[in-house]
Parts: sequence; structure tokens; C-alpha cells
Amino acid sequence: MNKQQTDLQSLFNAALDVQAKAHAPYSDYRVGSALVAENGNTYTGCNVENVSFPLGQCAEGNALAAMVAGGARQVKEILIASPNEHFCSPCGGCRQRIFEFASKDTLVHMATSEGEIKTLSMNEILPFAFDQ
Ligand code: THU
Repeated sequence: MNKQQTDLQSLFNAALDVQAKAHAPYSDYRVGSALVAENGNTYTGCNVENVSFPLGQCAEGNALAAMVAGGARQVKEILIASPNEHFCSPCGGCRQRIFEFASKDTLVHMATSEGEIKTLSMNEILPFAFDQ
């Protein structure tokens, strides 16, 4: 395993750890997200649902919030762990949230519960993004 694969494996493991803490009693769809910021630190988040459904928060948004609270501002790469054998493709809102702290080349990894990983760039998942 080369270094990049090792790092991706630790990002996946971090996402699995936080996925186990997801609060998803309504959808039963637990998501974990882990990102590496420009300071080298890893930040994680899971989805947190609410009985008032629209108040639910996605895993990616919570990982980004942890990064900002930790004093970092730039995502180097982010991984989203799905609870099943299908990729969890970030929702439209989360694509824009990630873009706020990313560049067009930032890597977005999607991992299934089987460990299969699909990687796209920020520009591929959100082309022609809104940017003032
Ligand atoms: N969810 C995420 O956390 N991230 C995504 O990229 C897609 C969806 C959450 C929202 C909700 O709690 C559950 O998954 C089902 O939609």
C-alpha cells in the first residue's frame, strides 16, 4: 500500500468511527464524513436528524463546521461513508458547502460500506459553481 492509499484508509476509518455515532432514527441512513484540512488535521462529522425533519444536518456540513471551529479554512480532501453498498453522493446543498472551503481540484471520495471508493474532483461534482 503506498502512502496515498494509507492516508485514504485512515480517512475512511475516521469516517467509519463517526458514522457509528450518527443520529439517524428517522431515515435509518447513517452517514460519516472525514476531511483533511490544510493544517494536516482530520475533522469528522455525522448526520444529526431531528423530529422536525428539515432541521436535520448532513454529515459533510458537520465535518466542515468542526474544521472551522478547529481554526482551519481549507479542505484538502473529504470522504463520505455510505451506510450501504451504494455510494452516498453529497446532496446539492453539501456540494455548495464543501465548495466554500475547497478549490476546483479538491478531491471528494465516496466510500461504500464494502470499502469501494469513487473519487471525483470538486469541479466534477459541482461544475459551474456559484462563486461571487
Ligand atoms: N445525508 C448526509 O448526511 N449526507 C449526504 O450527502 C446525503 C444525505 C443524510 C441526511 C439524512 O439524515 C439522511 O442522510 C438521509 O437523507
